[in-house]
Amino acid sequence: MVLLTGGLGYIGSHTAVELLKAGYEVVIIDNLSNSKEIVKEKIEQISGKKVKFYKGDVRDYELLEKIVKENEIDSIMHFAGYKAVGESVKEPLKYYDNNIFSTLALIRLMQEHKIKNLVFSSSATVYGRAESMPIYEDFPVSATNPYGRTKLFIEEILKDMYVADNSLNIAILRYFNPIGAHESGLIGEDPNGIPNNLMPYITKVATGKLEKLSIFGNDYNTKDGTGVRDYIHVCDLALGHVKALKKLETNSGLVVYNLGTGTGYSVLEMVNTFNEVCGNKVKFVFAPRRDGDVDMCYASPEKAERELGFKATHTLKQMCESSYNFEMKNKE
Ligand code: WQD
Repeated sequence: MVLLTGGLGYIGSHTAVELLKAGYEVVIIDNLSNSKEIVKEKIEQISGKKVKFYKGDVRDYELLEKIVKENEIDSIMHFAGYKAVGESVKEPLKYYDNNIFSTLALIRLMQEHKIKNLVFSSSATVYGRAESMPIYEDFPVSATNPYGRTKLFIEEILKDMYVADNSLNIAILRYFNPIGAHESGLIGEDPNGIPNNLMPYITKVATGKLEKLSIFGNDYNTKDGTGVRDYIHVCDLALGHVKALKKLETNSGLVVYNLGTGTGYSVLEMVNTFNEVCGNKVKFVFAPRRDGDVDMCYASPEKAERELGFKATHTLKQMCESSYNFEMKNKE
């Protein structure tokens, strides 16, 4: 069985669906700080399989012990964590406490219960301001905010754990920009409050929940002056996790992969593609740059293709269509 921390969240729920489809049994722990319990039923509806759910915090070691006593956990996928860059600058302690201590509790659980396989949800943010594009896994790493530093610190902690015990199999997956939703429209990106990220903001403008999009900066050194990012469909990302788990099951040791498409799209390209899909409902204005943003950020997907047999397949239009479909079906 695979334990998913934060498994009712955006990435976790889509990965749960793909794991179930691949024949794995899934157990989820989630404190519902940025997710809804109804997502459990949606995962079961999509997959036609049951999921065990424990409501609670990953830092609650007694709860973790209860889960491993009641379930034969062979692997863990660690999605639970706060992820808003701006919020992390204002509340660093909240981020270090939650993101780091939840990981330390899991590592302790793995040691005490001989669980050898861990997939960790990392982020392209660990590359900081990369010197060139595309970004390869051996590029230097650095962080420019507490959120990014938690991801970096956790990567270093996991590497130290592996040096101390090389019977561990750990996959560090560096996500680029996950967007989109499952084709059913039953699960998708459903953040609390005003979205920080581009796609959930666009979908709320397209469905009239927000007035217009502010494009942060149109004077970047890019094709049209707006920021370029490597957007990857969340279902492709989820498949990447299944491939990574299968790699760990071959006793791979510690491995690090970018999960991206290798193609960068600008904010304007995203807005124009979304407007093709939704009939020009996305009004926007140009606004000043957002602190901390970089001109361009996109992956070399070669290592995951070579070693995992993973390649993203969804187009930008499909990503936009699926996000719009989810938002339309979840209007309330
Ligand atoms: C994408 C582009 C913005 C909002 C962040 C985190 C990263 C990961 C993904 C957690 C940029 C522009 C955005 C808006 C805009 N998070 N934009 N108006 O910043 O690439 O990555 O989210 O794992 O760690 O750093 O994603 O979606 O915020 O921005 O113009 O209202 O859209 O400037 O060019 P980002 P994003």
